[in-house]
Amino acid sequence: MTVTAATGEHWSSRAAFLLAAIGSAVGLGNLWRFPAEAGSNGGGAFILVYVLCVVLIGLPILLSEVVIGREGSQSAVGSARGLALQSGRTPAWSALAWVGMIGAYMILTFYSVIAGWVIYYIWLFGGDFLSALAAGNPGAGAFANMDIDTIRGQLDSLFASPLRLIALHGLFMAITAYFVARGIKSGIEIAANFLMPLFFLLFIGITVYAIVTGDFEQAAKFLFSFDLEKALSGPVMLSALGQAFFSLSLGSALMITYGAYASRDVNLGNTSLIIAAADTSVALIAGLAIFPIVFAVGMAPDAGPTLMFQTLPAAFHSMPGGSLIGLLFFILVLCAALTSSVALLEAPTAFAIDRMRIARVPAAIVLAVTAFAVGCLSALSFNTMATVYPLDFIPIFAGQNIFGVMDGVSGKILLPLSGLLTALFIGWAADRRIVDADTGLSPTMFVLWRFLVAWLCPLALAAILIFGLRG
Ligand code: TRP
Repeated sequence: MTVTAATGEHWSSRAAFLLAAIGSAVGLGNLWRFPAEAGSNGGGAFILVYVLCVVLIGLPILLSEVVIGREGSQSAVGSARGLALQSGRTPAWSALAWVGMIGAYMILTFYSVIAGWVIYYIWLFGGDFLSALAAGNPGAGAFANMDIDTIRGQLDSLFASPLRLIALHGLFMAITAYFVARGIKSGIEIAANFLMPLFFLLFIGITVYAIVTGDFEQAAKFLFSFDLEKALSGPVMLSALGQAFFSLSLGSALMITYGAYASRDVNLGNTSLIIAAADTSVALIAGLAIFPIVFAVGMAPDAGPTLMFQTLPAAFHSMPGGSLIGLLFFILVLCAALTSSVALLEAPTAFAIDRMRIARVPAAIVLAVTAFAVGCLSALSFNTMATVYPLDFIPIFAGQNIFGVMDGVSGKILLPLSGLLTALFIGWAADRRIVDADTGLSPTMFVLWRFLVAWLCPLALAAILIFGLRG
C-alpha cells in the first residue's frame, strides 16, 4: 500500500527527521523545568527515577507514537483513525490523538509566554554586554552596577508590565507561526537545521565554562548522590514520570505527526532510541551547566521555576564574563524553545490541513493567533490576573491561576491520558501484523517493547492520572 501524508509532505532525509524530533523534545522542559524539578526534589533521587521513567515508559510510548504516525501517514488524528480502521477497530481510537493535540495546543499557549521572558533576558544581557564592552570590561560579571536583589527583581519588573509580557509573547508566537506556515521542508527543517547546531554549540561551550569556572564538585555531588528513600516516594515518582512525558514531547500528538512525515526506510526503533537519548542527555547536562554556577556563588539549588530567571542571572553577577555568558545562555534557551514551539503548532496545523482541508498558511496563522489570544491570559497570570483562579472549585486546581491551570490540565491530565490510550491501542487493539512490521526492533527487543507497552505503561500512566487527579 502506498501512503502519502495528507499534508503531502515528507522529511528530506532521516537526519532531518531526527533533528526536528530532537528539536521538539529539547526545550524549556530540559533547561527550565528539569533542573528546577531536580533541584527541588532532591537532585540525584529525582534523576534516578527520571531515567528509569524514560527507559521503561517514555521510550516504548515514543516508538508507539512514531509507528502510529508512519502507518497512518496523516495528521495525528487521521493516522490513529486510519490505523484503527486498518486493524478492524473503532475509529474512536483517534481520541488518543485528539486528547494529545488539545494538550499540545494548551502547552503552546503558555510555552510562548515563558519563551517571551527568555527574549527579555536576551535583551537585558545583550544591553549589559554592550555596556561592558563600551566600558572596556567585558570580562567582568553581569550587571556590575546592580546589587543581587535588583538583579533578582528584574523578573518582577517584567511581570509588572502587562504590555511587555504580551508583546514578547506575541513576538515569539509570530516567529513560531512563520516557520510552521512555510511547511516541513522550507520551514520546520530550516529552523531545526539552523537552530539545533547553534544550540548544541552554545550548550557545550557553556557546560565547559560552568565546569571550569563553577563549583563542579558540589554540583556533581548534588546531582549524582542519591537518596533511595526519597527517590521511591510517590510524589517524586509521579513528577518524574510527568516530566519525562513532557520532555520527550509524548502524549501530545507530536511524535505521531512527525512520524507521519518519515519515509519507509527509516528504522523507527533506532530513531526513537536516539531521540530519547539525546533529550535525556541534554536534561542531565543542563544540570551540569546550571548547578556549578549556582553553587559557585553559594546560592540555593531549589528555587524551582525561578531558578533560571532569578537565581542564574544573579549568579552571573559574580562570574567572569557573566554578561556574555548570560547572553549566550539565553540565546541557547531561545533556540531550544523555538524548535519546540514550532512542533507544538505543527500538530494542530497538520490536523487542520488534513482533516479540515484548510491551506497551511491560513491554518498556521489562525491557530497561532488564537493560541496567542489564549496565551495572553497566561501572560497576565503574572500580573493583573495573578489571583484569578478559574477552576478553584476543583480541589487539584484550587489556588491555581490560568497559567497554572493550563499547565496542570495539559501535564497532569491530557498528556498522560493520551499516553494511556496510546499504550492500550498499540498494546491491545492495533493489528499486530501491521505494527510488528514497522518497528525495526530485534526479536528480543520487540518482545520487551510489547510487554512494556501492554502492561507497564498503562499501569504507570493510569497511576499518574489517578494520583494527579486526587492531588
Ligand atoms: N518537549 C518539550 C520541552 O521539553 C515540550 C513539549 C511537550 C512539546 N509536548 C510537546 C514540544 C509537543 C513539542 C511538541 O520543552
